[in-house]
Amino acid sequence: MSDMTFQEELRPPEEEGVLLDVRGIRTYFFTEEGVVKALENVGYKVYESKTLGIVGESGCGKSVSALSVMGIVPDPPGKIIEGEVWFRGEDLRKKSDAEMRTIRGNKIAMIFQDPMTSLNPVLTVGDQIMEAIRLHQDVDLQTARENSIKIMDLVGIPSAADRVDDYPFMFSGGMRQRVMIAMALSCNPELLVADEPTTALDVTIQAQILNIFKAIRNEFNMSIMLITHDLGVIAELCDYTTVMYAGYIVEYATTIELFKNPMHPYTIALLGAIPKPETRKDDELTIIPGSIPSLITPPPGCRFHPRCSHTMELCKTDIPLLRQVAPQHTVRCHLFTKYPIAEVEEYTAKMRELYQHDQMEIIEQKGLGKKMTKAFKRGKENLE
Ligand SMILES: Nc1ncnc2c1ncn2[C@@H]1O[C@H](COP(=O)(O)OP(=O)(O)O)[C@@H](O)[C@H]1O
Ligand code: SF4
Ligand SMILES: [Mg+2]
Repeated sequence: MSDMTFQEELRPPEEEGVLLDVRGIRTYFFTEEGVVKALENVGYKVYESKTLGIVGESGCGKSVSALSVMGIVPDPPGKIIEGEVWFRGEDLRKKSDAEMRTIRGNKIAMIFQDPMTSLNPVLTVGDQIMEAIRLHQDVDLQTARENSIKIMDLVGIPSAADRVDDYPFMFSGGMRQRVMIAMALSCNPELLVADEPTTALDVTIQAQILNIFKAIRNEFNMSIMLITHDLGVIAELCDYTTVMYAGYIVEYATTIELFKNPMHPYTIALLGAIPKPETRKDDELTIIPGSIPSLITPPPGCRFHPRCSHTMELCKTDIPLLRQVAPQHTVRCHLFTKYPIAEVEEYTAKMRELYQHDQMEIIEQKGLGKKMTKAFKRGKENLE
């Protein structure tokens, strides 16, 4: 069976309060090695003043998804083959490059994982924030400077008035990320897209940056799309969560529902695989057996089937469709198309028992603390 178009899949009705509505995005990279099928029929919504998390292992297509929304997929070799990106009632895919540049500066801002790649090393941070402010607001230099200091203060840069004339290299990694956030906020965007904003930072600084995101969400009433491979970050910050695997959205739910009642085998495995906080970046543990497949020659049928503990014959040939299992919960897995939902629920309950992750414990915990370590250890022991 060939893959269906998004239109043939479940397409929820138009809803109030939707700021961003991404529909059926397919993004490919045409490389010498072959065509990298990075995104297949990817769709999700970001609601006003809410935070959507996008989670999945490295290489799942999270960043490409953000680049596709922003209209900055590197071309060549990348191309958005099809899909729609509705923002405030307009399809951004129909906008010209110049129009998109204006939207990116004014309405949608993006923060990248590594702030050094986005900061200009030869300009002071103040000059860079002021430039961003003056691009969007008709203010004189003095006011722009004062506003820069206010924003730096807001994102927790100590002695902002003194540091405004420092260069990026004079800031620590965590402080540089704050500068990036300040620049993104300076245009007062409606949507903030943050791609792994805490991944390069150590745990204490991560917690501080997460707190800034919480403050932004609450005080600015801003919609945020937060990309992370870390379910701990999701639990702390996101209202809704989309789980991606190998270019597909495999599960979507409110975060509480996802942690209480995960259904896709990949989500369940991911929840069992939450790394302990002190895990260093260079010895990151993956406890889901196997690894992400090549997106040039992805496995046929369900792309997760080589790693799934529930693979059926059907999974090796047919691509599962998204199925709605509850009002705010969709899953892409044959278990949910082949069997009645009640039966599958029983099945997934057993799976969850196997992984024994304490979803509610995780969601209730405040820092990346002890309980996550406990959940991680149990998941690991079960797999050994
Ligand atoms: N510029 C590019 N050229 C070729 N392939 C790319 C490029 N950017 C991303 N990809 C591929 O797209 C897939 C998804 O990547 P990405 O979105 O960066 O993953 P994630 O952010 O989830 O770690 C990967 O297979 C990656 O190799
Ligand atoms: S479709 Fe099949 S292989 Fe894919 S996640 Fe579901 S059970 Fe596993
Ligand atoms: Mg990425």
